[in-house]
Amino acid sequence: MQSFIESATQNLDSQTKDIVFSNLSLKLATDVIGQAAFGVNFGLSEPHSARNEIESVAVNKDDVMSASASNEVTDFINQHIYSTTQLKMDLSGSFSIILGLLVPILQEPFRQILKRIPGTMDWKIEHTNKNLGGRLDEIVEKRMNDRTRSSKDFLSLILNARESKAVSENVFTPEYISAVTYEHLLAGSATTSFTLSSIVYLVAAHPEVEKKLLEEIDGFGSIDHIPTSQDLHDKFPYLDQVIKEAMRIYIVSPLVARETSNEVEIGGYLLPKGTWVWLALGVLAKDPKNFPEPEKFNPERFDPNCEEMKQRHPYAFIPFGIGPRACIGQKFSIQEIKLSLIHLYRKYLFRHSPNMENPLELEYGIVLNFKHGVKLRAIKRTPRSC
Ligand code: HEM
Repeated sequence: MQSFIESATQNLDSQTKDIVFSNLSLKLATDVIGQAAFGVNFGLSEPHSARNEIESVAVNKDDVMSASASNEVTDFINQHIYSTTQLKMDLSGSFSIILGLLVPILQEPFRQILKRIPGTMDWKIEHTNKNLGGRLDEIVEKRMNDRTRSSKDFLSLILNARESKAVSENVFTPEYISAVTYEHLLAGSATTSFTLSSIVYLVAAHPEVEKKLLEEIDGFGSIDHIPTSQDLHDKFPYLDQVIKEAMRIYIVSPLVARETSNEVEIGGYLLPKGTWVWLALGVLAKDPKNFPEPEKFNPERFDPNCEEMKQRHPYAFIPFGIGPRACIGQKFSIQEIKLSLIHLYRKYLFRHSPNMENPLELEYGIVLNFKHGVKLRAIKRTPRSC
């Protein structure tokens, strides 16, 4: 994680050129989760690609996989980046989905027709899904036959588990393994990247928050003093507050769903078995009962000693969901975000680019995204202040 972050945060400073920070953070988050999920360095956050729009992928020669397998991963990840940035999970562009919202019964028949018509969003989604699925299956199959695979990444771990007699091969089918590996890549890249970008965007417009944050980060130690995971947990309380408050303002998954497995009564309503229940995390996070002046970016409201925090309902703020199906990547992503921010603010300050729209425009898909990206200018900090 550390090396990717260092790579991505090199040579950003330019007072006159925009950094599309949301692209940079997507490359970084994809690299980090790519290493954790596939055991592969996609090389997206290497300095030469840091300023460019996402188009090419360099694969590091230290990769654990062979060159040909790496090329397959490269192709796959290009498709993945395309689906995340170009398609932007923009389901609103798909006619069948819009139709499905109005006349649900017509959605599937129309999707079946539209996916065959080149140029439609349904066709693009189908095409990309097929490519991604095919690529991923190839990667999994190759790795299955690789006797020298490591045991540090998720894909290798799951394949090793499959081979142990204790776990049935019928459960961990190649298709299942492909699906969970991609689920991790998808769930871990767009969410973390969006959150990281929204934090830097908000801090750039709040100098008093920036000042306090820099004091905490600088107070930790010199630039080459790398925080351990325990340090990240204990020594950055204000950073913690800033992250929580930014996640409250821009909650990446504003809705989560459950299906009732039995008849249940909630808030005086009797819900039959099989009812879909939507929990609006984004609405909860803006409820003035729990968060006075909800539109104000105020990290102080997450100070454990403040009254607002003490009185708040424990489930008022649940950006990672709740219960047995809550996010499994919570600790991982918070560590990644903290480490990235510490590295970034040790070297740079950020300001909104004059080319950035105001107010920020968001796009509502499976997860929240920035409509036009987060465009920033990075200012190198003087060594004395680092
Ligand atoms: C800031 C970063 C992230 C946020 C805000 C986030 C948020 C969420 C939310 C709201 C859910 C649904 C929870 C529910 O239904 O109660 C979820 C599920 C999930 N997340 Fe994350 N996530 C983040 C990062 C990650 C990362 C880094 C990974 C992978 C390492 C990951 C893997 C998953 C998986 C696999 C699920 C499905 C869990 C299940 O169905 O049992 N997430 N996430």
